[in-house]
Amino acid sequence: MERLKRTDYCGLLRPDHVGHSVVLMGWVHRRRDHGGLIFIDLRDREGIAQTVFNPEFHPEAHKIAGHMRAEFVVAIRGRVQPRPQGTENARLPTGMIEVAVEEALILNEAKPPIFAIEEQTDVAEEIRLTYRYLDLRRPSMARNLRLRHRAAQAVHGYLDRHGFVEVETPMLTRSTPEGARDYLVPSRLNPGEFYALPQSPQLFKQLLMVAGMDRYYQIVRCFRDEDQRADRQAEFTQIDLEMSFVDRDDVLDVTEGLVAALFEAAGRPAPPRPFSRLTYAEAIDRFGLDAPDTRFGMELADLTDIVRGTEAKAFAEPIAQGGVVKGMNAKGCGAFSRAQIDGLVDYAKGFKAKGLAWFKVTADGIQSPLAKFLGPIVLERLSERLKGEEGDLLLLVADQAKTASESLGRLRVKLGRELKLIDENALAMTWVIDFPLLDYDPEQGRWQAMHHPFTAPLDEDLPFLDTDPGRVRAKAYDLVVNGQELGGGSIRIHRRDVQSQMFAALGIDADEAKAKFGFLLEALEYGAPPHGGLAFGFDRVIALLVGAGSIRDVIAFPKTQKAQDLMTQAPSPVDPRQLKELRIKLDLD
Ligand code: AMO
Repeated sequence: MERLKRTDYCGLLRPDHVGHSVVLMGWVHRRRDHGGLIFIDLRDREGIAQTVFNPEFHPEAHKIAGHMRAEFVVAIRGRVQPRPQGTENARLPTGMIEVAVEEALILNEAKPPIFAIEEQTDVAEEIRLTYRYLDLRRPSMARNLRLRHRAAQAVHGYLDRHGFVEVETPMLTRSTPEGARDYLVPSRLNPGEFYALPQSPQLFKQLLMVAGMDRYYQIVRCFRDEDQRADRQAEFTQIDLEMSFVDRDDVLDVTEGLVAALFEAAGRPAPPRPFSRLTYAEAIDRFGLDAPDTRFGMELADLTDIVRGTEAKAFAEPIAQGGVVKGMNAKGCGAFSRAQIDGLVDYAKGFKAKGLAWFKVTADGIQSPLAKFLGPIVLERLSERLKGEEGDLLLLVADQAKTASESLGRLRVKLGRELKLIDENALAMTWVIDFPLLDYDPEQGRWQAMHHPFTAPLDEDLPFLDTDPGRVRAKAYDLVVNGQELGGGSIRIHRRDVQSQMFAALGIDADEAKAKFGFLLEALEYGAPPHGGLAFGFDRVIALLVGAGSIRDVIAFPKTQKAQDLMTQAPSPVDPRQLKELRIKLDLD
């Protein structure tokens, strides 16, 4: 090692290097012993180079190669030569050359790897996560991390060019109300008191605007104790930004430029700008969800007016209770079996729908268990509105508007996938704007902030905040891509009186507001500029750019569904002495 200093990366050798003497260091990817010649494919982060050991010319090196095994760490010195004619491999960037080894060293031995280090793997994810350092040797994973790095650099460059200043905000802080549970950290110096890890830097970035920073950004870790999914982690990363003296369109414009810069960093054409926009109301009407997948049709329609007054109880009762009847046309699914339809019904019920009514459009008319209660005229009108044709299956949900829309919206996405209506190469970027400010939580019997309590209402809706909170729309926006929320933000409340009014609408009285957010309310009294911003899920952006199915594939050391790190085995019990120091007693029953 002392004598050998690496000159090149294995994966970067090209025919230009022929004749060069090189020193390579890396891992033994594969060893082929041809009796006389030994071939070692040597791998480093840039790729693989074929090295060849000839016992006639360099018996010492050949002997060492005889001891090499998969994943041994080795160094070689040799000369680059063209591969003999007929043995070239055009599929490998280094496939035209090989290195004739003159000297070899084993730098470290390795146990046989738990799984082969290959581009694709079908090894269980638990094993990959337990031996993550082996998993990250796989070229596809290494590529994801390197693209993540390039994307982060692009973010820094773009935002710096646009006058944003990176400011770090605390990790040990107070709870921020982003809607999830907090991760708490006990304070040894203040027994019985806890910090919360930030769910986002929301309040700090607003305070930086009060401080006159004007444009802030941060690529920042956030922590949320919520159910884990393919696109959710306990700790994840946001590209977080905030701007002063701006309106919504200024924020959207800067953000679209940032998205373009990210696509460029990934070597992909940027999506056309401006991105399309949908109001929340339209998204729900047409797609049933506030993060609609607009890559395919099968849009929903409101059918309440058609079925009102019919004898079908399944429709009459929800309508009488202020609900609606919505439907969609599952094109070409008229031949679905009873079992298949039952599957759809169960799926809709999983999203709280009381049921799912179905109608088959056949050559002999419309067939449905509800047909006799509706009569031919209503059936005909239903089919007409849903553009039913022979062979189609019409699906209807009667329920409260929210449930009817959501259950059908979810069913639409499921069918869209199963019927292969989604062009996986298409990219549908849509801003969803004009969200409701508040959302009624029937379980708690009170209004909740749809985004967070610092989101400003539309000016024209402000008068209704006290009288009719449900109709107040917010200056909030989400960026939705292919049915997934990639980012979201809003113009904030910058006036103390409006912020107090908002807390009142949320049922937070003055004392509680002061206790929890006194510092913010106070800051709003010391000259807070109008401001707004947004945060992207950085992991989600990278997953989109590399086409990963889960954000776990773009995070170096992610956690499982149970928020565990299988490699370090966190979380774990701690020494009782540590608990004692923190004055914490466990009650595990
Ligand atoms: P929000 O809560 O919408 O907004 O979060 C912004 C974006 O962060 C991503 N995200 C997540 N990614 C992975 N795992 C999670 N558990 C997770 N939770 C959220 C999503 C989401 O769109 N402070 C506000 C932003 C603002 O108003 O400026 C906020 O945090 O992609």
